Amino acid sequence: MKKVLFVCLGNICRSPAAEGVFTHLVKEAGLENEISVDSCGTAAHHEGESADIRMREHAGRRGIELTSIARGMVRKDFEEFDYILTMDNSNYKNVVAMAADNQKYKIIKMTDFCSNHPHDQIPDPYYGGPDGFELVLDLLEDSCQGLLKKIIEEMSR
Ligand code: 4NP
Repeated sequence: MKKVLFVCLGNICRSPAAEGVFTHLVKEAGLENEISVDSCGTAAHHEGESADIRMREHAGRRGIELTSIARGMVRKDFEEFDYILTMDNSNYKNVVAMAADNQKYKIIKMTDFCSNHPHDQIPDPYYGGPDGFELVLDLLEDSCQGLLKKIIEEMSR
């Protein structure tokens, strides 16, 4: 079993959306018994909350249901998970700072897997309008495909 963890700041917008989009692709590929998916946030202010209603509505229009409940990142996550995906540069720095040196190789920027968008970060949509939520989903749909391809390649080695 390969274990994938998506991380953002609050775990109510970007990483729940990433979890939903990626889970959808994993199911389509029939790999739900081989790849597990979770998400968390570097800040735990929203612990126990469902994903932001705006994120759920935008994702729902694309056929993606977001079911995750927010939780803060914990040190054990770096032992448990094989792939740890971050959303923006500040998020990447915070996650790298929490990891032991021999765990840092697991941490990858989500935009490294984008092929159709020039973005180097998945911007925080929380204080913005609907376009920000759509951009998050565009970037995640693109990058989740690249991520799944990489994991499938690594599993077949
Ligand atoms: P997320 O978005 O990191 O994509 O879940 C945010 C959610 C909440 C806050 C910031 C970003 N906040 O400041 O409460």
